[in-house]
Amino acid sequence: MKGHGLLEGKKGIIFGALNDSSIAWKIAEAVHREGGRFILSNAPVAQRLGGLDELAKRTEAEIVWADATSEEDLTALFERAKALYGGVDFIVHSIGMGLNVRKNRPYEDLNYEWYKKSLDISGISLHRVIHAADTLGALRDGGSIIALTYIGAQRTFSKYSEMGDAKALLESIVRSYGYRLGKRGIRVNSVSQSPTITTAGSGIAGFDAMFKFAERIAPLGNADAESCADYTVSLISDLTRMVTMQNLFHDGGFATMGISDELIADLAEVYSKGE
Ligand SMILES: NC(=O)c1ccc[n+]([C@@H]2O[C@H](COP(=O)([O-])OP(=O)(O)OC[C@H]3O[C@@H](n4cnc5c(N)ncnc54)[C@H](O)[C@@H]3O)[C@@H](O)[C@H]2O)c1
Repeated sequence: MKGHGLLEGKKGIIFGALNDSSIAWKIAEAVHREGGRFILSNAPVAQRLGGLDELAKRTEAEIVWADATSEEDLTALFERAKALYGGVDFIVHSIGMGLNVRKNRPYEDLNYEWYKKSLDISGISLHRVIHAADTLGALRDGGSIIALTYIGAQRTFSKYSEMGDAKALLESIVRSYGYRLGKRGIRVNSVSQSPTITTAGSGIAGFDAMFKFAERIAPLGNADAESCADYTVSLISDLTRMVTMQNLFHDGGFATMGISDELIADLAEVYSKGE
Protein backbone atom coordinates (compact mmCIF):
# COMPACT_ATOMS: atom_id res chain seq x y z
CA MET A 1 0.00 0.00 0.00
CA LYS A 2 1.16 3.55 -0.76
CA GLY A 3 1.54 5.91 2.19
CA HIS A 4 -0.55 9.05 2.55
CA GLY A 5 1.61 10.95 5.03
CA LEU A 6 -1.06 10.47 7.71
CA LEU A 7 1.54 10.42 10.49
CA GLU A 8 3.99 13.06 9.25
CA GLY A 9 5.60 14.74 12.27
CA LYS A 10 4.42 12.12 14.79
CA LYS A 11 7.00 10.48 17.06
CA GLY A 12 6.46 7.55 19.33
CA ILE A 13 7.33 4.15 20.75
CA ILE A 14 6.19 0.77 19.46
CA PHE A 15 6.48 -2.12 21.94
CA GLY A 16 6.37 -5.80 21.01
CA ALA A 17 7.85 -6.43 17.56
CA LEU A 18 9.51 -9.85 17.88
CA ASN A 19 9.57 -11.25 14.35
CA ASP A 20 7.90 -10.54 11.02
CA SER A 21 4.65 -12.20 12.07
CA SER A 22 4.27 -9.93 15.16
CA ILE A 23 1.38 -7.49 15.01
CA ALA A 24 3.78 -4.75 16.24
CA TRP A 25 6.13 -5.53 13.33
CA LYS A 26 3.36 -4.80 10.84
CA ILE A 27 2.38 -1.71 12.82
CA ALA A 28 5.98 -0.42 12.62
CA GLU A 29 6.01 -0.91 8.84
CA ALA A 30 2.66 0.87 8.43
CA VAL A 31 3.59 3.78 10.73
CA HIS A 32 6.86 4.21 8.82
CA ARG A 33 4.97 4.11 5.51
CA GLU A 34 2.77 6.98 6.79
CA GLY A 35 5.73 9.15 7.84
CA GLY A 36 5.83 8.45 11.61
CA ARG A 37 9.14 8.10 13.49
CA PHE A 38 9.60 5.76 16.44
CA ILE A 39 11.71 3.80 18.86
CA LEU A 40 11.22 0.03 18.74
CA SER A 41 11.22 -1.55 22.19
CA ASN A 42 11.07 -5.13 23.41
CA ALA A 43 12.16 -7.16 26.43
CA PRO A 44 15.94 -7.70 26.70
CA VAL A 45 15.34 -11.48 26.49
CA ALA A 46 13.99 -10.97 22.96
CA GLN A 47 17.38 -9.62 21.88
CA ARG A 48 18.91 -13.06 21.42
CA LEU A 49 16.11 -14.02 19.00
CA GLY A 50 17.50 -11.44 16.57
CA GLY A 51 15.51 -9.97 13.71
CA LEU A 52 14.68 -6.56 15.14
CA ASP A 53 17.83 -4.95 13.71
CA GLU A 54 16.58 -5.52 10.18
CA LEU A 55 13.21 -3.89 10.93
CA ALA A 56 14.92 -0.98 12.70
CA LYS A 57 17.18 -0.37 9.72
CA ARG A 58 14.32 -0.47 7.25
CA THR A 59 12.10 1.84 9.31
CA GLU A 60 14.92 4.18 10.42
CA ALA A 61 14.11 3.37 14.04
CA GLU A 62 16.29 3.12 17.12
CA ILE A 63 15.98 0.03 19.33
CA VAL A 64 15.79 0.45 23.11
CA TRP A 65 15.55 -2.82 25.03
CA ALA A 66 13.24 -2.59 28.04
CA ASP A 67 11.34 -5.04 30.16
CA ALA A 68 7.86 -3.47 30.36
CA THR A 69 7.56 -4.64 33.98
CA SER A 70 10.73 -2.79 35.05
CA GLU A 71 10.47 0.81 36.27
CA GLU A 72 14.20 1.25 35.74
CA ASP A 73 14.09 0.06 32.12
CA LEU A 74 11.02 2.18 31.33
CA THR A 75 12.62 5.26 32.87
CA ALA A 76 15.72 4.79 30.68
CA LEU A 77 13.48 4.23 27.62
CA PHE A 78 11.45 7.41 28.07
CA GLU A 79 14.56 9.44 28.94
CA ARG A 80 15.96 8.31 25.60
CA ALA A 81 12.69 9.19 23.82
CA LYS A 82 12.84 12.67 25.36
CA ALA A 83 16.44 13.14 24.28
CA LEU A 84 15.64 11.95 20.77
CA TYR A 85 12.23 13.53 20.12
CA GLY A 86 11.51 15.88 23.04
CA GLY A 87 8.47 13.71 23.84
CA VAL A 88 6.16 11.15 22.25
CA ASP A 89 2.88 11.60 20.34
CA PHE A 90 1.99 7.90 20.36
CA ILE A 91 2.62 4.66 22.20
CA VAL A 92 1.69 1.22 20.87
CA HIS A 93 1.55 -1.48 23.57
CA SER A 94 1.60 -4.85 21.80
CA ILE A 95 2.80 -7.03 24.67
CA GLY A 96 1.43 -10.29 25.98
CA MET A 97 2.61 -13.38 27.80
CA GLY A 98 0.66 -15.99 29.77
CA LEU A 99 3.04 -18.15 31.78
CA ASN A 100 0.45 -20.69 32.94
CA VAL A 101 -1.00 -20.83 29.42
CA ARG A 102 2.47 -21.46 27.99
CA LYS A 103 3.13 -24.23 30.49
CA ASN A 104 -0.33 -25.77 30.10
CA ARG A 105 -1.35 -25.16 33.73
CA PRO A 106 -5.17 -25.27 33.84
CA TYR A 107 -7.13 -22.27 35.16
CA GLU A 108 -8.33 -24.28 38.18
CA ASP A 109 -4.73 -24.98 39.18
CA LEU A 110 -2.79 -21.79 38.43
CA ASN A 111 0.73 -21.26 39.68
CA TYR A 112 0.15 -17.89 41.38
CA GLU A 113 3.68 -16.61 40.88
CA TRP A 114 3.29 -17.18 37.14
CA TYR A 115 -0.22 -15.74 37.28
CA LYS A 116 1.06 -12.51 38.89
CA LYS A 117 3.79 -12.30 36.27
CA SER A 118 1.23 -12.80 33.46
CA LEU A 119 -0.97 -10.02 34.87
CA ASP A 120 2.07 -7.77 35.22
CA ILE A 121 3.41 -8.36 31.70
CA SER A 122 0.08 -8.41 29.85
CA GLY A 123 -1.99 -5.95 31.90
CA ILE A 124 -0.21 -3.81 34.51
CA SER A 125 2.66 -3.02 32.11
CA LEU A 126 0.31 -0.65 30.27
CA HIS A 127 -0.09 1.31 33.50
CA ARG A 128 3.67 1.21 34.09
CA VAL A 129 4.39 2.47 30.56
CA ILE A 130 1.93 5.38 30.75
CA HIS A 131 3.03 6.23 34.29
CA ALA A 132 6.71 6.34 33.30
CA ALA A 133 6.00 8.47 30.23
CA ASP A 134 3.77 10.85 32.15
CA THR A 135 5.95 11.35 35.23
CA LEU A 136 9.04 11.96 33.10
CA GLY A 137 7.15 14.57 31.08
CA ALA A 138 7.60 12.53 27.90
CA LEU A 139 3.93 12.40 26.89
CA ARG A 140 2.89 15.16 24.51
CA ASP A 141 -0.60 16.67 24.74
CA GLY A 142 -2.92 15.51 21.95
CA GLY A 143 -1.23 12.10 21.69
CA SER A 144 -2.62 8.61 21.28
CA ILE A 145 -1.99 5.40 23.23
CA ILE A 146 -3.10 2.05 21.80
CA ALA A 147 -3.00 -1.38 23.45
CA LEU A 148 -3.68 -4.71 21.75
CA THR A 149 -6.27 -7.00 23.34
CA TYR A 150 -8.54 -9.97 22.62
CA ILE A 151 -12.27 -10.64 23.04
CA GLY A 152 -11.36 -13.26 25.66
CA ALA A 153 -11.20 -10.29 28.08
CA GLN A 154 -14.96 -9.86 27.85
CA ARG A 155 -16.29 -13.33 27.07
CA THR A 156 -15.05 -16.73 28.15
CA PHE A 157 -12.86 -18.46 25.63
CA SER A 158 -11.89 -21.53 27.66
CA LYS A 159 -8.35 -21.98 26.36
CA TYR A 160 -7.51 -18.29 26.85
CA SER A 161 -7.49 -18.99 30.60
CA GLU A 162 -5.48 -16.46 32.74
CA MET A 163 -4.97 -14.23 29.69
CA GLY A 164 -8.69 -13.34 29.84
CA ASP A 165 -8.06 -11.90 33.32
CA ALA A 166 -4.92 -10.07 32.22
CA LYS A 167 -6.64 -8.50 29.21
CA ALA A 168 -9.69 -7.51 31.32
CA LEU A 169 -7.26 -5.63 33.57
CA LEU A 170 -5.58 -4.05 30.52
CA GLU A 171 -8.94 -2.87 29.14
CA SER A 172 -9.85 -1.36 32.50
CA ILE A 173 -6.53 0.53 32.63
CA VAL A 174 -7.39 1.90 29.17
CA ARG A 175 -10.55 3.45 30.63
CA SER A 176 -8.99 4.61 33.91
CA TYR A 177 -6.02 6.35 32.31
CA GLY A 178 -8.13 7.48 29.34
CA TYR A 179 -10.25 9.52 31.76
CA ARG A 180 -7.23 11.06 33.45
CA LEU A 181 -5.35 11.95 30.26
CA GLY A 182 -8.41 13.21 28.38
CA LYS A 183 -7.99 16.67 29.88
CA ARG A 184 -4.75 16.95 27.87
CA GLY A 185 -6.34 15.68 24.66
CA ILE A 186 -4.52 12.35 25.00
CA ARG A 187 -6.52 9.32 23.86
CA VAL A 188 -6.22 5.80 25.25
CA ASN A 189 -7.90 2.90 23.40
CA SER A 190 -7.56 -0.84 23.03
CA VAL A 191 -7.84 -2.72 19.75
CA SER A 192 -9.48 -6.12 20.15
CA GLN A 193 -7.91 -8.12 17.38
CA SER A 194 -8.96 -11.38 15.66
CA PRO A 195 -6.93 -14.51 16.34
CA THR A 196 -3.71 -13.90 14.41
CA ILE A 197 -0.95 -16.37 13.62
CA THR A 198 2.00 -15.05 15.67
CA THR A 199 4.38 -16.38 18.34
CA ALA A 200 2.07 -15.29 21.20
CA GLY A 201 -1.08 -16.48 19.39
CA SER A 202 0.27 -19.90 18.52
CA GLY A 203 1.43 -20.36 22.14
CA ILE A 204 -2.19 -20.90 23.17
CA ALA A 205 -3.41 -24.50 23.15
CA GLY A 206 -6.33 -24.86 20.73
CA PHE A 207 -5.32 -21.69 18.85
CA ASP A 208 -5.92 -23.32 15.43
CA ALA A 209 -9.49 -24.21 16.37
CA MET A 210 -10.13 -20.69 17.75
CA PHE A 211 -8.74 -19.22 14.53
CA LYS A 212 -10.96 -21.41 12.32
CA PHE A 213 -14.04 -20.85 14.51
CA ALA A 214 -13.67 -17.05 14.26
CA GLU A 215 -12.98 -17.28 10.54
CA ARG A 216 -16.25 -19.23 10.04
CA ILE A 217 -18.30 -16.69 11.99
CA ALA A 218 -16.89 -13.26 11.12
CA PRO A 219 -18.67 -11.92 8.00
CA LEU A 220 -15.42 -10.34 6.77
CA GLY A 221 -13.29 -13.26 7.97
CA ASN A 222 -10.44 -12.87 10.46
CA ALA A 223 -8.57 -9.57 10.38
CA ASP A 224 -4.87 -10.12 9.68
CA ALA A 225 -1.91 -8.28 11.22
CA GLU A 226 -1.52 -5.96 8.20
CA SER A 227 -5.10 -4.70 8.45
CA CYS A 228 -4.64 -4.29 12.22
CA ALA A 229 -1.61 -2.13 11.46
CA ASP A 230 -3.65 0.08 9.11
CA TYR A 231 -6.37 0.45 11.76
CA THR A 232 -3.72 1.39 14.32
CA VAL A 233 -2.39 4.07 11.94
CA SER A 234 -5.88 5.61 11.91
CA LEU A 235 -5.91 5.62 15.73
CA ILE A 236 -2.52 7.33 15.93
CA SER A 237 -3.60 9.92 13.36
CA ASP A 238 -5.54 13.09 14.18
CA LEU A 239 -8.52 11.74 12.21
CA THR A 240 -9.62 9.87 15.35
CA ARG A 241 -8.84 12.68 17.81
CA MET A 242 -12.22 12.40 19.60
CA VAL A 243 -12.07 8.63 20.17
CA THR A 244 -10.97 7.57 23.64
CA MET A 245 -11.56 5.01 26.44
CA GLN A 246 -12.86 2.52 23.88
CA ASN A 247 -12.32 -1.14 23.30
CA LEU A 248 -12.44 -1.20 19.50
CA PHE A 249 -13.14 -4.53 17.84
CA HIS A 250 -10.97 -5.21 14.83
CA ASP A 251 -12.25 -8.67 14.06
CA GLY A 252 -14.18 -8.72 10.75
CA GLY A 253 -17.50 -8.48 12.65
CA PHE A 254 -16.96 -11.51 14.91
CA ALA A 255 -17.90 -9.78 18.20
CA THR A 256 -21.41 -8.90 16.98
CA MET A 257 -22.23 -12.32 15.52
CA GLY A 258 -23.97 -15.24 17.21
CA ILE A 259 -23.71 -18.09 14.73
CA SER A 260 -23.33 -18.15 10.94
CA ASP A 261 -24.82 -20.33 8.17
CA GLU A 262 -21.32 -21.63 7.52
CA LEU A 263 -20.84 -22.85 11.07
CA ILE A 264 -24.35 -24.33 11.24
CA ALA A 265 -23.60 -26.33 8.10
CA ASP A 266 -20.29 -27.55 9.57
CA LEU A 267 -21.91 -28.54 12.85
CA ALA A 268 -24.83 -30.31 11.11
CA GLU A 269 -22.30 -32.42 9.24
CA VAL A 270 -20.25 -33.24 12.33
CA TYR A 271 -23.32 -34.15 14.42
CA SER A 272 -24.91 -36.23 11.64
CA LYS A 273 -21.81 -38.48 11.71
CA GLY A 274 -22.43 -39.27 15.37
CA GLU A 275 -26.07 -40.33 14.78
N1 LIG B 1 -2.03 -13.30 18.05
C1 LIG B 1 -3.29 -13.20 18.40
O1 LIG B 1 -4.11 -14.08 18.10
C2 LIG B 1 -3.76 -11.99 19.15
C3 LIG B 1 -5.13 -11.68 19.16
C4 LIG B 1 -5.55 -10.56 19.88
C5 LIG B 1 -4.62 -9.78 20.56
N2 LIG B 1 -3.29 -10.12 20.53
C6 LIG B 1 -2.34 -9.28 21.28
O2 LIG B 1 -1.46 -8.65 20.37
C7 LIG B 1 -0.28 -8.29 21.08
C8 LIG B 1 0.94 -8.72 20.27
O3 LIG B 1 1.04 -10.13 20.22
P1 LIG B 1 1.43 -10.90 18.90
O4 LIG B 1 0.30 -11.81 18.61
O5 LIG B 1 1.91 -9.98 17.87
O6 LIG B 1 2.60 -11.87 19.41
P2 LIG B 1 4.18 -11.63 19.57
O7 LIG B 1 4.65 -12.83 20.35
O8 LIG B 1 4.80 -11.37 18.28
O9 LIG B 1 4.26 -10.32 20.49
C9 LIG B 1 4.20 -10.34 21.90
C10 LIG B 1 5.35 -9.47 22.37
O10 LIG B 1 5.35 -9.26 23.78
C11 LIG B 1 6.72 -9.11 24.13
N3 LIG B 1 6.93 -9.22 25.57
C12 LIG B 1 6.72 -10.31 26.36
N4 LIG B 1 7.09 -10.04 27.62
C13 LIG B 1 7.55 -8.75 27.64
C14 LIG B 1 8.07 -7.91 28.65
N5 LIG B 1 8.21 -8.33 29.92
N6 LIG B 1 8.45 -6.65 28.32
C15 LIG B 1 8.33 -6.21 27.03
N7 LIG B 1 7.81 -6.97 26.03
C16 LIG B 1 7.44 -8.22 26.33
C17 LIG B 1 7.37 -10.25 23.37
O11 LIG B 1 8.80 -10.19 23.31
C18 LIG B 1 6.72 -10.08 22.01
O12 LIG B 1 7.44 -9.19 21.19
C19 LIG B 1 -0.38 -8.93 22.47
O13 LIG B 1 -0.89 -7.99 23.37
C20 LIG B 1 -1.40 -10.01 22.22
O14 LIG B 1 -2.04 -10.42 23.41
C21 LIG B 1 -2.83 -11.19 19.83
